[in-house]
Amino acid sequence: MNNETRHAEQAVVMDSVRPEQNADKGRRNFLISAAGVLGAGAVGLFADALIDNMNPGKAVEALGAPIEVDVSRMEPGQLILTEWKKKPIWILKREPWMLQALADPTLLRRLKDPDSRQDQQPAPQFINGNYRALRPEYFIAVALCTHMQCIPAYRPAPHTVTPWWPGGFHCPCHGSLYDFSARVFEGSPAPLNIPIPPYYWKSATVARIGEMNVHGLEKDWTPDIW
Ligand code: FES
Repeated sequence: MNNETRHAEQAVVMDSVRPEQNADKGRRNFLISAAGVLGAGAVGLFADALIDNMNPGKAVEALGAPIEVDVSRMEPGQLILTEWKKKPIWILKREPWMLQALADPTLLRRLKDPDSRQDQQPAPQFINGNYRALRPEYFIAVALCTHMQCIPAYRPAPHTVTPWWPGGFHCPCHGSLYDFSARVFEGSPAPLNIPIPPYYWKSATVARIGEMNVHGLEKDWTPDIW
């Protein structure tokens, strides 16, 4: 395993979530998200987040170099937050019931873009369907709401925000609701599904985020929202 590979609980987040004007709000949003992740069990993650000890490896990553995350210790239902290109990145280990909820026809009718036809993921022919992932169990996405780029909170418990909502991601800023594939529901101010970064599985347990290794696909693809 590469020395640069991060174990899930050692994943590092840094500030600078909001590229635009309001740095204080961006910091607050990051902390709001932190509460959601801690609730999912990633206790060690945000201790690291508070220690922004830039080293050469991290400096390279800040410029956009791919990162590698070892997910072998993740528990079902756990969400971890890491960073690529100074953007927060989610990795969620989805449980079977979450995957079932993604295909519920009643819920699919409530989504703005159930088939992810908008350009919010690399190579739609590669990451498609209800899972929006290369492996259904692991969901990897850019942790930014497509309305004004707050970080949505992870809410795995069903029916917490509205009676019909199966759980997923809830933006604390203006209330956008997403499912466990970060597809946005009708009635939300967010216009689009949350972007998926380019990535691939370097091994059974190590995800390499920041590039793809499939011949002919866009290695440097960047979501429109950036
Ligand atoms: S920023 Fe998420 S709903 Fe406005």
